[in-house]
Amino acid sequence: VSLPVAIVGASGYTGAELFRLLHAHPEVEIAGVHGKSSAGKRLAEVYPQLAGVSELVLEVADPEAIARRAEVVFSALPHGESAALCEALVARGRRVLDLSADFRLRDLEAHRAWYGEHHAPALAARAVYGLPELHRRELREAALVAVPGCYPTAAVLAVAPLLEAGLIATPLVVDAKSGVSGAGRSPSLATHFPEAGEGIRPYKIAGAHRHTPEIEQELERLAGAPVRVSFTPHLVPMSRGILACVYGAARAGGGFHECLVARWRDEPFVSVLPPGTLPDTSFVRGSNRVHVAVAHDARTGTLVAMSALDNLVKGASGQAVQCLNLMMGWPETTGLRAIAPFP
Ligand SMILES: NC(=O)c1ccc[n+]([C@@H]2O[C@H](COP(=O)([O-])OP(=O)(O)OC[C@H]3O[C@@H](n4cnc5c(N)ncnc54)[C@H](OP(=O)(O)O)[C@@H]3O)[C@@H](O)[C@H]2O)c1
Repeated sequence: VSLPVAIVGASGYTGAELFRLLHAHPEVEIAGVHGKSSAGKRLAEVYPQLAGVSELVLEVADPEAIARRAEVVFSALPHGESAALCEALVARGRRVLDLSADFRLRDLEAHRAWYGEHHAPALAARAVYGLPELHRRELREAALVAVPGCYPTAAVLAVAPLLEAGLIATPLVVDAKSGVSGAGRSPSLATHFPEAGEGIRPYKIAGAHRHTPEIEQELERLAGAPVRVSFTPHLVPMSRGILACVYGAARAGGGFHECLVARWRDEPFVSVLPPGTLPDTSFVRGSNRVHVAVAHDARTGTLVAMSALDNLVKGASGQAVQCLNLMMGWPETTGLRAIAPFP
């Protein structure tokens, strides 16, 4: 028997990606799709790629009705909108994967500083950060998963082994570029085609982006010491993908590539590229894979740790499905074996 799941925020970009992945998942049945302004519309009306595939109609997100129908719920709502719904669902015994930032920061003070008042503070301590490569054991038992942000997934996976092994010094510089779908489906001036289509620009630099404390939280856990990160995100004219370059001083003369290979050897979705090959978002587009590599600039003593992923897959919905597989005791790659179509 299939596991009945619901997608809340199904009319958004990560919701659509959840639908695409869960539709192809052999153990799952999509029992409900929910939204706000789109409620009452057929999902295929909102997403024409679903013509002939799904007759589901978007409904409002009533926790009672969702819990009646679904065992597991994916909440892909804007931050601040998700916490109360997650709390109502967990209270009804449902397991929840939250793609918003509402449960990512363990420190409630930090959450308040970056996002404002928490709407379900009592539940926050129970959330497990949904990065399987770092939290696999706890994810198996989780009632509530805080699926990581797209930039934090890219930055943390790029540099984690080097930091753990003491091969890179802090502070770190995280320079990352994202496709425009990272901003969601609601149009804005910054994501309007003539504004974003032919240029590239940094935004929310110098500690202003909300993913900064999330990256630091996970890296501090690995380093066992405070880690400071100077984060420069950029918007680039493509619809999907994140490329991250993390810079720090090298603390050894070599062994960097070998460190990545040893750390990620058993990971189904992390590919360490052979020396000389550099990550490119084109080769992970639409897949749950992250490509990583490291280069040593011996002239300046700098390490460049790199990663490429699809912000909507390994950076959001694919990662959520990977967490679901762990929670249900299924092989971690179930429903996620697709590789990037190319060209
Ligand atoms: N885009 C990415 O690359 C990415 C990556 C990682 C994490 N995330 C996070 O994932 C979440 C969703 O992102 P997105 O890019 O998919 O956003 P989006 O395209 O803007 O979609 C937002 C969705 O939330 C729904 N919604 C908003 N308020 C609601 C409410 N009160 N009740 C029910 N539904 C409500 C909207 O429904 P209607 O359309 O019906 O109004 C829409 O389906 C965000 O928290 C985001 O930070 C995004």
